[in-house]
Amino acid sequence: MKPKILVACPIFDDVLAQLREHFEVTDNQADASWTPEVWAERLQPFVGALTTGANPVNAQVLARNPQLRIVANMAVGYNNFDVPAMTAAGVVATNTPDVLTETTADFGFALLMATARRMAESEHFLRAGLWKSWRYDMFAGAEVHGSTLGIIGMGRIGQGIAHRGAHGFGMDVIYHNRSRLSAELEAECKASYVSKEELLKKADHVMLVVPYSAESHHTIGAAELAQMKPTATLVNIARGGIVDDAALAKALAAKQIAAAGIDVFEGEPSVHPDLLKVPNVVLTPHIASATIQTRRAMAQLAADNLIGFLTQGQAVTPLNNVTGRHA
Ligand code: GLV
Repeated sequence: MKPKILVACPIFDDVLAQLREHFEVTDNQADASWTPEVWAERLQPFVGALTTGANPVNAQVLARNPQLRIVANMAVGYNNFDVPAMTAAGVVATNTPDVLTETTADFGFALLMATARRMAESEHFLRAGLWKSWRYDMFAGAEVHGSTLGIIGMGRIGQGIAHRGAHGFGMDVIYHNRSRLSAELEAECKASYVSKEELLKKADHVMLVVPYSAESHHTIGAAELAQMKPTATLVNIARGGIVDDAALAKALAAKQIAAAGIDVFEGEPSVHPDLLKVPNVVLTPHIASATIQTRRAMAQLAADNLIGFLTQGQAVTPLNNVTGRHA
């Protein structure tokens, strides 16, 4: 009998077909969304699951699912996992690192450009039939080339953005991270390490690429927004909750900072209603890794993790070291 797995999010048909060769698969191609309670209940017949970051795997979910042996995230972020609780329960956690780095860095840069150059706001203006003349100050935005880019979170994606800024746009790149990069990596990225305070004060564009944790919750709130330049832009491609969205909406409405580009939201897919009211923000629905090639690579890696672990005892990109489910 094939092991039973749940694919909790829609994925490519051919990846699903590969999984069906190894497993008895229940899919969610209909894209139903489940409360944590329903998700915990749904999981009950399955030894493995493939999910987006929307479904939590914590002590309660694990206690209700003693049959569970692996959960594969189709995401590099894994703040939906309580990894220590999974390890303690003998459940393998996997994510999809590396395959989305460059695509996500591209998007961070695209959102920075769109934000600084007011692309969404001006497009809405054009579509509304409001364009009457060419004016010297019409949608005049902020310079990108040659400006100072401040990156908070200098993992693989942060480094990709630093490369684009320094080498492609001649930007001065400063960064803040829990730990400092090696001198070699700093030289490669042409990036200088600064304190968070200095970064907020100096950067023309602040880019957030830090993983979500209790420690990084509201990395940017009212106090931090007050330290930024009034001409500065803020881009969040990290996770909802890294920015205090209510404080951001207030700062944007008061023109305390010039503009923001936000791909991830507190409580998404809900968006703070005040953010929807301010014009100087570009809002996108968590699409930083969304190219067909990259999403395919993410789905494949998540599937390979399930196949690797459940058929050969070895996941490809495990986040924890687990040999078997404890009784
Ligand atoms: C998406 O947000 C991811 O973590 O891959």
